[in-house]
Amino acid sequence: MIKPDGVSGNYSDDIKRIIVEASFNIVTEMLTQLDKDTASAFYHEHSSRSFFHDLVTYMTGPVLVMVLEKPNAVSHWRGMIGPTDAQKAKISHPHSIRALCGKDSQRNCVHGSDSTSSAEREINFFFKDVVPGDIASQH
Ligand code: CMP
Repeated sequence: MIKPDGVSGNYSDDIKRIIVEASFNIVTEMLTQLDKDTASAFYHEHSSRSFFHDLVTYMTGPVLVMVLEKPNAVSHWRGMIGPTDAQKAKISHPHSIRALCGKDSQRNCVHGSDSTSSAEREINFFFKDVVPGDIASQH
């Protein structure tokens, strides 16, 4: 997912170029607008965290959601986006996507599912008709 700061900062084309150059297949994509209820549901696992309210407010905006496919897609994408905290990414992973367009630990420009089971849930959250074949089975 390209998060609201990434979409409004006009990083979508650059990020998609990086995705294609890394040999991901973009199975499907959708530009959509999250409202507070949708953002809360998407991040419900973080609902007890101190940053949850701010996270939901930040995520209320346009996002570009994509289903990315390649062998080991989850770990490849997590490696490419870099650490959650974009400030740390700029130091430890200067070529990562979050180093390119993130600002801090919240406004980190992109999201990636942290496991194949999260990927299945998150794909189903946005795309009811996609069967995450390679994405789940080749992790
Ligand atoms: P993401 O990888 O999408 O998953 C959870 C999100 O919560 C994370 O990116 C950040 O946007 C946000 N987040 C995680 N940790 C913090 C933090 N310490 N402070 C503020 N926001 C955070």
